[in-house]
Amino acid sequence: MYRDLEGKVVVITGASSGLGRAMAIRFGQEKAKVVVNYFKNEADGEKVAKEVQAAGGEAINVQGDVSKEQDVKNLITKTVEAFGTFDIMINNAGIENEVPSEKLSTEDWNKVIETNLTGVFLGCRESIAYMLDHHIKGTVINMSSVHEVIPWPHFVHYAASKGGVKMLTETLALEYAPKGIRINSIGPGAIDTPINAEKFSDPKAKADVESLIPMGYIGKPEEIAAVAAWLASSESSYVTGIIRYLLTEE
Ligand code: NAI
Repeated sequence: MYRDLEGKVVVITGASSGLGRAMAIRFGQEKAKVVVNYFKNEADGEKVAKEVQAAGGEAINVQGDVSKEQDVKNLITKTVEAFGTFDIMINNAGIENEVPSEKLSTEDWNKVIETNLTGVFLGCRESIAYMLDHHIKGTVINMSSVHEVIPWPHFVHYAASKGGVKMLTETLALEYAPKGIRINSIGPGAIDTPINAEKFSDPKAKADVESLIPMGYIGKPEEIAAVAAWLASSESSYVTGIIRYLLTEE
């Protein structure tokens, strides 16, 4: 546990499932005030908010599409209305779909880029602007992937979006380090969440992935949440612009 996270206000996008949910619960255990952003599933958003409260934190739900500028602005506004300020932004929401690249529609390309890259940009821009205006030495964590550096056939839009998150994170980290705002990202390999449910329902596909992982198993969402808690805490006060890769052969 990190004492300085107690009472901190953390916004997590795409927090109604998977890694977002695990991070929300972890920040609840840290006694933080958690804003659970959900996209479409209000019931899941509410369930996670209750889990955060049960873990010891405070929580509200805010609906929003991270690819829409107005929704991201609204997320920050609702956060400040509820908790008076905010300190930590976690741009976690993301999507993927498998398509041979010659068949990838412009619509699918745009959807993934708008969610995974534009969504992270908007979350960074709006949170950094708020922190600068209010002299808050906050921190931003972006959820990237090992596929920001490892090519991934049939997922060109996903790999391109995460490659963009890498340069976005490193560039913003340099830009705002002088203001005391830290910007890092996490690049998981394979973690057991709904995004992978279909892929890993095939035991052979699962075993093939596990054979590439030095730890020998697919990561648990809580193991990523632990990294996010460290990156958000003052224990990592001299860390900015890093990508913490996890569970990959790289
Ligand atoms: P997930 O599918 O459980 O979570 C994604 C979340 O994003 C969902 O809650 C979904 O509702 C939300 N979302 C989708 N579009 C949205 C939008 N336009 N606005 C707001 N929210 C939206 O999957 P998971 O694994 O928890 O994914 C979270 C992040 O982790 C993603 O960025 C993903 O690319 C990344 N990641 C996951 C890995 C894994 O193995 N699970 C590996 C590497 C990266």
